[in-house]
Amino acid sequence: MGSPLHHIGFSLSFGSGWSFKLYERPKAYIRQNEYYMAVGRMRDVKKPGDIKGSVSTDNVTSHDSEKVQNYKLPPLVGALKASAAKNAASFHFPGHNRGHAAPSSFTQLIGLRPYLHDLPELPELDNLFSPEGPILEAQKRAAELFGASETWFLVGGSTCGIQAAVMATCSPGDNIILPRNCHISAISAVILSGAVPKYIMPDYDSDWDIAGGITPSQAKKAIKELDIEGDKVGAVFVVSPTYHGICSNVAEISHLCHSHNIPLIVDEAHGAHFGFHRLLPNSALFQGADLAIQSTHKVLCSLTQSSMLHMSGDLVDRDRICRCLQTLQSSSPSYLLLASLDAARAQVSENKQIIFDNAIELAMGAKSAILKIPNISVLDITSFPQFPAIDPLRVTIGTKQLGLSAFEGDDILSKDFGVVSELVGTQSMTLAFNLGTQREHVSSLISGLKHLSTISTTKNCTNHSKNNCESLTHFDDISMGLSPREAFFAHKTKVGIKDSIGQICGELVCPYPPGIPVLIPGEVISEGALNYLLQVRSKGVVISGASDHLLSSILVCNV
Ligand SMILES: Cc1ncc(COP(=O)(O)O)c(C=O)c1O
Repeated sequence: MGSPLHHIGFSLSFGSGWSFKLYERPKAYIRQNEYYMAVGRMRDVKKPGDIKGSVSTDNVTSHDSEKVQNYKLPPLVGALKASAAKNAASFHFPGHNRGHAAPSSFTQLIGLRPYLHDLPELPELDNLFSPEGPILEAQKRAAELFGASETWFLVGGSTCGIQAAVMATCSPGDNIILPRNCHISAISAVILSGAVPKYIMPDYDSDWDIAGGITPSQAKKAIKELDIEGDKVGAVFVVSPTYHGICSNVAEISHLCHSHNIPLIVDEAHGAHFGFHRLLPNSALFQGADLAIQSTHKVLCSLTQSSMLHMSGDLVDRDRICRCLQTLQSSSPSYLLLASLDAARAQVSENKQIIFDNAIELAMGAKSAILKIPNISVLDITSFPQFPAIDPLRVTIGTKQLGLSAFEGDDILSKDFGVVSELVGTQSMTLAFNLGTQREHVSSLISGLKHLSTISTTKNCTNHSKNNCESLTHFDDISMGLSPREAFFAHKTKVGIKDSIGQICGELVCPYPPGIPVLIPGEVISEGALNYLLQVRSKGVVISGASDHLLSSILVCNV
């Protein structure tokens, strides 16, 4: 029996292009606007499931299409294309059935093509958890590009890669050395693995209210202290670069770790582009890390939630990584995410010598233009002199001298100039430059900052601004009553914030920025920590993780 599509009067022509051809409208390609209109009309008048006309859509011109055909597709992208082109009578998931039942409210936004290619684990598409076809080939090519002995594609972001890396290196009761300003995924990794954390307090700059990385001497001290106590170290965990682009000396830390036979995990979520330009720092793997986790979706161009876990050498058991990843990830991984990783890898591979030239030139140009604007500063490595580098594509602007909080400044930039930043702190806002950064958008940014500078000279500091411009009293009195895992599973009670002093915290409370958790499950709540939290909350800082984000109450463990 033929495909249901044949009964409704049009044929599929994937073999010769990216579009379906309509009998009744023999125009090879329909442009995007027409397509949206067609979909909208069609969805209004057709009965459910009738996709006549809808699959004939494409915003690719015949010229583009020819170029795409002549171009050898990356392995998983090619496999997905071929599989979608099969015109199969599909009796499998997902229920939108290759777009036949795609909801029109969404296809009006994204078109049908994502649905056509949203396929499950069909034999020709390989299996993420036992790859032997296009996924294996795509992962091998990624490993080659990023200098790994093996690479795993991730559909749960770097979050699941970090969790797998910690679970693969630390068994319950093993110690893990990690910076206190690690991402929440590292804390959840500690909870999942049952590892015992030994925190290193990162360097902190109170003028900027920004935390840096950790130094080799801090790592050395932590290893030595655990060694003296006879405690086993499962792994050392480093975040490099940080959200603000500050890089730790991974080469020296990996050398140190390996001299103690300890694997080094690097959270390189913000550094998938490292090593692809002479002005970019070297990648963590290049510097000797055993495991590096990169959010390919952050600076490179894969779809949100897709990441990669890279391994180098054999200090870590690769089979254990596979088991951990299968435990943590969905059994229905999205092929759109997986293929987007393959495509992002190919995009870099094809032009790796020059691909970041333009982005770096724009970022450098922006920095020198911003530095000429009165009362606005740009974060550079002189604020963190013990660290080797800062990512040139992360531009962090200081607003302290403007008499405006960064929140106020960011609001004006967004509302009046259409400029949207990546991260806003009390004293700074951070802009992420990338392969898609547009010159005219940089001009809007510069115009917006000039405007902020002008109004700051005419405007008196508001009370709100003054409050935000004051530096914070930092806290560092940390003691642990339970391990994070014990605290996570303990019964808990909500108590008033003032009554919580001396009790064991049942949740993770982290103001962002600077992104250093003030309380981690299992820690004894101290007066210093509470005062710090109340101080940052009064500055309008977002408190993440707390069940009561206003901080009038907090969860404590019943012990
Ligand atoms: C330093 C750091 N590590 C890990 C992650 C988690 O990455 P993902 O969003 O890809 O899960 C983030 C996310 O922002 C991060 O900033």
